[in-house]
Amino acid sequence: MKQQLEAILASAKKELGETRTARELDAVRVRFLGKKGELTAILKGMKNVAPEERPVIGQLVNDVRAAVETALDQQGQIIERLALDARLKSETLDVTMPGEDIVLGHKHPLTAVLDEIKDIFIGLGFQIAEGPEVELDHYNFEALNIPKDHPARDTQDTFYISDNILLRTQTSSVQVRVMEKQKPPIRIIAPGRVFRSDAVDATHSPLFHQIEGLVVDKGITMSDLKGVLELFAKRLYGEDTIVRFRPHHFPFTEPSAEMDIQCYQCHGKGCRLCKGEGWIELLGCGVVHPKVLEVCDIDPEVYSGYAFGIGLERTVMGRFKIDDIRSFYENDIRFLHQF
Ligand code: DAH
Repeated sequence: MKQQLEAILASAKKELGETRTARELDAVRVRFLGKKGELTAILKGMKNVAPEERPVIGQLVNDVRAAVETALDQQGQIIERLALDARLKSETLDVTMPGEDIVLGHKHPLTAVLDEIKDIFIGLGFQIAEGPEVELDHYNFEALNIPKDHPARDTQDTFYISDNILLRTQTSSVQVRVMEKQKPPIRIIAPGRVFRSDAVDATHSPLFHQIEGLVVDKGITMSDLKGVLELFAKRLYGEDTIVRFRPHHFPFTEPSAEMDIQCYQCHGKGCRLCKGEGWIELLGCGVVHPKVLEVCDIDPEVYSGYAFGIGLERTVMGRFKIDDIRSFYENDIRFLHQF
């Protein structure tokens, strides 16, 4: 019996020494100490042992059992360390490995120039205002002194949603919304999308962007308008930029004008960029019509103002010599990455 027990201990130790994983270790434990294990079998056989020998043999079985358990523990620790070593090795980080290239996006040319324009006007004390793209006839036309029979109201130019609701055709609608809410002094620009029922070609798009400007205060005159807009043109196109104002007509301003800049390519001689004109149209502007102030409950005897509207696409096209407005909306990465 004693020899048998010693043989069991020896083979348990040998088998344990060969285990490399927790699962293998457990299999050995079951084989020797489990319900049907070898040591358990011997304990069950105790009834066949002579009563006077039982204490000795019992002691022996317990010793062997304890020895097997100790060996199990030790081997368990070895296996844990092996597993840890393996994990540390597999998780090592090679800090000398080259990094992965991160592709950075950048601003759309329309956004980049709009940001510049915003900065210029913010620097002059203007605030940014907003209005809805789906607009009431009142704000887009009526309050701006554009009567019902005005050609701009034709369905060929305007996307109507109902008789009274439309997609705004100009950011001038924001002028009225601002003046309704806020009393002078007012000094805002309102950039945003506008919509016209135009067929798409190199210079027309049913969706484009304008930047509206509005200043209302006591004693504002045409010379304020000219001073600020000339300064704006110089900031945007360079200090040597030359501007001119041409008389024009807009229903919501009186007098009205358009501001041109001298062609920065040919300096007035006439070239392809300015179509031989020597000048490039930049914006529409004028002194706010008294009727518009009145509609907004601002007394035209006390206050006066000026307004202007800049076409963003046209400005960016001139600036970067882009000859097709569609390039802005196709979002061809090869195009966008040039700016
Ligand atoms: N709303 C005009 C347009 O879409 C542009 C414009 C002209 C705006 C003169 C103004 C302005 O504020 O004073 O053609």
